[in-house]
Amino acid sequence: MKNQRLQEILDAALLEISQASTVEEINNVRNTYFSKKSELMGMMSLIGTLPPEEKKTFGQEVGMVKGQIASAIDEKAKLLAEQELAKKLEAEKIDISLPGKNFAPGSKNPFHVIKDEMTDIFLGMGFEVADGPEIESDMFNFELLNIPKDHPARDMQDTFYIDENTLLRTHTSPVQARTMAAKKGQPIRIICPGKTYRRDDDDATHSHQFAQIEGLVIDRNINIGHLKATLELFAKKMFGEKREIRLRPSYFPFTEPSVEVDITCANCGGKGCNMCKGTGYIEILGGGMVHPNVLKMNGYDPEVYSGFAFGIGIERVAILRYGIDDIRKFYQNDVRFLHQFKKKI
Ligand code: DAH
Repeated sequence: MKNQRLQEILDAALLEISQASTVEEINNVRNTYFSKKSELMGMMSLIGTLPPEEKKTFGQEVGMVKGQIASAIDEKAKLLAEQELAKKLEAEKIDISLPGKNFAPGSKNPFHVIKDEMTDIFLGMGFEVADGPEIESDMFNFELLNIPKDHPARDMQDTFYIDENTLLRTHTSPVQARTMAAKKGQPIRIICPGKTYRRDDDDATHSHQFAQIEGLVIDRNINIGHLKATLELFAKKMFGEKREIRLRPSYFPFTEPSVEVDITCANCGGKGCNMCKGTGYIEILGGGMVHPNVLKMNGYDPEVYSGFAFGIGIERVAILRYGIDDIRKFYQNDVRFLHQFKKKI
């Protein structure tokens, strides 16, 4: 090389290139030698100003040095990029021998477990599931169930009114009247599981919101024996073959006679213990023979048709089945509570 300075630039560049150890460093080298203000680029622009005899040799030498530096940089840049990628892949390698993440499935709220189980038992006996609104009219919630205005039986339930004639249903019994209106005198065999609302103390055994399963059977020649047999079968399927039931006289405006139904205590088998308060029995539901007024008001001739009805508190059944000590636990969605029922589902 004739031009000493060009040789120096080439040597310095090749040294810097060989020393660059990252993509960033090699890019810096590129910028140093090829920026407009660099000495090499300055020499390039000098070519045009030289007399012809110097121009050729100098031009060739500058071009050669520029070409050598550029290809050395490209080669090193490629090598460094490959090395960095390999390093990154190594660092991000997935260790397939690590245990996987454990996505445990959740568990059904015991309320729903029991509601579904109760529903299945009645479906097995030939009942159909009926439905009704939770926002109900005074007419269906009270009047058509033989609970006229000012009837004292309203006092226990008169609760969440939306306007003078509309309220959150206080029981699932209005579905009785709704079904009778829909079936227009045809035989009926329905249950209705659903939410109900009424004023109550909110404590371990009471809640202003709870759920019931209503039952209604209407046909010719239905008698209280049918009610008893149905509920006995339900009690045995729900609480075990050994459970017996007993019917006690009671009062509901929409049934006559009315009964309250107890099952023998699962804890003591009927001998008497803390759980059954020494009686040997635990109350589980109310029921009775559909009152003739109710039949009449809802389009069924009480001389031809008779029927029975019942209402069961779902949470109450779940509490008895699982020994749950506080009704509010059903609604709080605390996973520590819910997970306890995992295996039973
Ligand atoms: N509706 C009643 C209540 O909420 C429960 C009930 C009792 C329903 C007797 C009935 C029945 O169908 O015949 O307390």
